[in-house]
Amino acid sequence: MNKDAAYVIVGASLAAAKAAETLRQEGFDGPLAVIGEETERPYERPPLSKDYLLGKAGRETIYVHPQPWYAEHGVDLRLGVRVTGLDPAEHQVTLADGRRVGYAKLLLATGSTPRRLPVPGAESGGVLYLRRVADSDQIKAAFAAASRVVVIGAGWIGLETAAAARAVGVQVTVLERGELPLLRVLGREAAQVFAGLHRDHGVDLRFGVQVAEITGSGGRADGVRLADGTNIKADAIIVGIGITPNIQLAEAAGLQVGDGIITDAQLRTSDPDIYAAGDVANAHHPLLGKHIRVEHWYNALHQPPAAARAMLGQDAVYDRVPYFYTDQYDLGMEYAGYVEPGGYDQVVFRGDVQGREFIAFWLGGGRVLAGMNVNIFGVNEVIQAVVRGGRAVDAGRLANPDVPLEEFLGDRRAAKGKLTSGIHR
Ligand SMILES: Cc1cc2nc3c(=O)[nH]c(=O)nc-3n(C[C@H](O)[C@H](O)[C@H](O)COP(=O)(O)OP(=O)(O)OC[C@H]3O[C@@H](n4cnc5c(N)ncnc54)[C@H](O)[C@@H]3O)c2cc1C
Ligand SMILES: NC(=O)c1ccc[n+]([C@@H]2O[C@H](COP(=O)([O-])OP(=O)(O)OC[C@H]3O[C@@H](n4cnc5c(N)ncnc54)[C@H](O)[C@@H]3O)[C@@H](O)[C@H]2O)c1
Repeated sequence: MNKDAAYVIVGASLAAAKAAETLRQEGFDGPLAVIGEETERPYERPPLSKDYLLGKAGRETIYVHPQPWYAEHGVDLRLGVRVTGLDPAEHQVTLADGRRVGYAKLLLATGSTPRRLPVPGAESGGVLYLRRVADSDQIKAAFAAASRVVVIGAGWIGLETAAAARAVGVQVTVLERGELPLLRVLGREAAQVFAGLHRDHGVDLRFGVQVAEITGSGGRADGVRLADGTNIKADAIIVGIGITPNIQLAEAAGLQVGDGIITDAQLRTSDPDIYAAGDVANAHHPLLGKHIRVEHWYNALHQPPAAARAMLGQDAVYDRVPYFYTDQYDLGMEYAGYVEPGGYDQVVFRGDVQGREFIAFWLGGGRVLAGMNVNIFGVNEVIQAVVRGGRAVDAGRLANPDVPLEEFLGDRRAAKGKLTSGIHR
């Protein structure tokens, strides 16, 4: 097959690997290159803040495919190679060494990068971020040597690393500028549950604080100074203050970008031969009727196959109900749906909130926008169907654990969309 028919994927992580897999499954037998700047073959990041960080899962468990899979499927996996330019008119990408690679169709699966802490001292040794497997190794070693750590940011990284640190007996202080953990995504009612969880495990949670400086000497951090003058000593500092999507290639190439690379429901960008998927894609979601960018594993797992099918000319759209999960201490949670900050009228709890065994539903206009099952398993598929169905529900009945969730499903046609199967548990 000639070079003009080549499919190229930029980024070599979960989204890239799933797109490559689907292209081959769907019978694409032309040249296929996956180009990524990391030196590891595609791996999954969730274990890096959970079982891998805790030492419960080994390195071999994190990879998307076994090493031989790429050669066996004719995937030209180029690792340790940064793509530095994109020329849509020439249908070429440029690599860091100046070489150019032609494509017929291109997928941008460039993911996201942790935000850096913008205060003096933040570049000191002992200030750690978590995105790559080497970061997780470093944090694990730091926890083994530390007696006290500070975690900056009470989002997903902050809470999961705090739980991992407590599991090895390290004293933890979490500094969050907002009023509660996970406030933007869960809202006040459910965020309280996570604050209680961490307090019950001995974490010193401080909200509404502003980090002014990382203190230390000789280029080595030894603590944090807050804007109110408070000093907190630490042997290591973990920073998890959010990410920014890696849109640089797309932006410089003149593609439409906003918060991420803008795509239609087929994951096609403003250039008809370029697609985007995973953390970097701000895709039109047919069920929600708007563009959303999702920074979660499930999206990176399932959206790229839709992009791959669309790249092959199939009539594929991505319309799954957004889904994410977390594991912290003995709490396992799954969430399905999508609610913007403040974008709900009411939260309905069903079950034992104090005992942290319940389902929470976010309602807007009388309909279920999202649901979160905490330490109750095997129900997320039906929660997704309820969200998808979009039927008006009776909040009192929804709160009653004796009323089967199936009662809240929409009409058959509306609820017929794809449900999650084989989710992480
Ligand atoms: C520690 C951690 C734990 C997580 N846990 C969970 C969880 O429990 N549940 C959940 O739902 N989600 C979780 N997530 C989020 C989930 O891992 C991400 O949503 C997912 O990794 C996104 O996949 P992606 O392939 O789109 O992007 P990424 O994983 O960011 O991969 C993009 C890849 O592209 C490469 N790249 C970027 N630009 C270029 C370029 N110009 N040239 C070459 N290569 C490039 C990057 O180096 C990277 O390897 C977690 C994330 C982290 C970091
Ligand atoms: N279970 C999961 O789904 C999971 C687990 C780990 C990571 N991730 C993903 O990894 C990425 C990074 O996670 P994250 O936790 O860094 O981001 P996040 O957006 O989840 O949380 C960032 C937190 O940091 C706070 N913050 C921002 N600036 C601050 C500052 N200067 N001082 C104190 N607090 C500050 C924010 O208010 C927010 O609470 C996200 O895309 C996330 O979805 C997901």
